[in-house]
Amino acid sequence: MLNIVILAAGLGTRMKSNFPKVLHALAGRPMLAYVIDSALALRPSSITIVVGNESNQIRDFVKRYSCDVNFVVQVNQLGTGHAVKQALPNLLDSGSEKDSTLILYGDVPLVKTITMESLLEARKNGLGILTSFLDNPNGYGRIIRDHNGFIRKIVEHRDANQIELNIKEINTGIIAVPTVLLKKWIVNLNNDNKQKEYYLTDIVGMAVSEGVFVGSSRPKENWEILGVNNHVQQANLERIWQEEQAKLIMESGVTLADPKRIDIRGTLECGKDVFIDVGCIFEGVVVLGDNVRIGPYCILKDVCIARDSIVNAYSHLCDANLGNNVQIGPFSRLRDCIDIDSYSKIGNFVEIKNSNFGKLSKANHLTYIGDADIGSNVNIGAGTITCNYDGLNKFRTIIEDNAFIGSDSQLIAPVMVGKDATIAAGTTLTNDAPEGQLTLSRVRQYSIPDWTRPGSGNSKKD
Ligand code: UD1
Ligand code: CA
Repeated sequence: MLNIVILAAGLGTRMKSNFPKVLHALAGRPMLAYVIDSALALRPSSITIVVGNESNQIRDFVKRYSCDVNFVVQVNQLGTGHAVKQALPNLLDSGSEKDSTLILYGDVPLVKTITMESLLEARKNGLGILTSFLDNPNGYGRIIRDHNGFIRKIVEHRDANQIELNIKEINTGIIAVPTVLLKKWIVNLNNDNKQKEYYLTDIVGMAVSEGVFVGSSRPKENWEILGVNNHVQQANLERIWQEEQAKLIMESGVTLADPKRIDIRGTLECGKDVFIDVGCIFEGVVVLGDNVRIGPYCILKDVCIARDSIVNAYSHLCDANLGNNVQIGPFSRLRDCIDIDSYSKIGNFVEIKNSNFGKLSKANHLTYIGDADIGSNVNIGAGTITCNYDGLNKFRTIIEDNAFIGSDSQLIAPVMVGKDATIAAGTTLTNDAPEGQLTLSRVRQYSIPDWTRPGSGNSKKD
């Protein structure tokens, strides 16, 4: 039986924020979500989050995110031991020392599941401490070992003597404990130290004095144990995480113009020979097929693009499905349920919303298409606007195969353009345009031959 306790009651004052620290984001997701995900991957019997007084935002987030989590409130932040004590009533155990409780921190988001697993292994029915060696161990609890290399205790930085301060092996804070022993030890903690806190780390000394094995393990990667106390550390961790993501997708076969200039805030799955230029942001779930090229400074959120398609510079795509050999941008905006069929072209300054766009169709310049179903091989001229909104309701525009919409037309929805129809430039279409015909709504052009421009020619006024 495995219990997981996530400590998240710390005030996070150095974030200087109205939001709880653990809800601050890393790659677009609250830090706490990472910790919950890694915890869930261990299939624990219980997860308990220890929160402070102002915890409603955390509860609301977690309820939306994952249902199977308990909350306990630590009213006063009297230390990590005191925090874990609040969780004791939620910890399940059969009385066997095989049952563990794993302590995690809500503000240390990137500890890998495999690292947690190896810690649970290393405790061998005793205590397990995830340790790390740091060139600058300032602020951390130091791991004190005897001459045989066995851990004797953890000394907090503020309580350490000069010799102890020189030790570079530190307590990451992630600890695995037999649940029965944790329940016994926690109630015996005192706050007889410099910070007047109940230190969870004091259970190490208790284990040693009772002859309980104290093992340790190290994280797979050094950055896993980094915590966030301020926005500088948050930004530092963000860059580390982004570089890791970039490395993974390069390893999967993607060419990145610059791995330091890509941000993946979600998942990005790529086929072979994908190229991504600098400054792109990927959010939600993005899937790119073979040979897809993404130009510089594009934003793609929840987008799926089939092979051989190109998204040119500065395009913003959200909730879109693109076929193969499609060309988008530069400066295109696609949003809200878009389906663009293969070989289509959407050019500069074209916005498309909630629409289907058929095969081989084009809207190359300066157009708004909203709530439209466009057939295949349709040409939409520059400056075309679907007038889809009457101030209250939205209406659809239907344009059938092979239609040609002349430049600067307004299609007042609901309206339909039939197959092979041609709409003359400058038309304001208020009724359906029949198939195969030319439809125009234009004031006839005329000229006034003897007109003079004011202030010019034979004006006598001076
Ligand atoms: C703690 C460890 C230290 C370790 C360091 C790693 C103890 C006594 N010290 O230090 O050995 O090197 O973490 O970062 O355990 N929290 C609560 N309630 C509290 C106090 C803390 O929920 O009353 C939570 C915080 O939100 C945070 C975590 O516990 O997530 C650690 O607290 P923090 O104050 O950062 O750790 P230290 O006491 O500095
Ligand atoms: Ca502290």
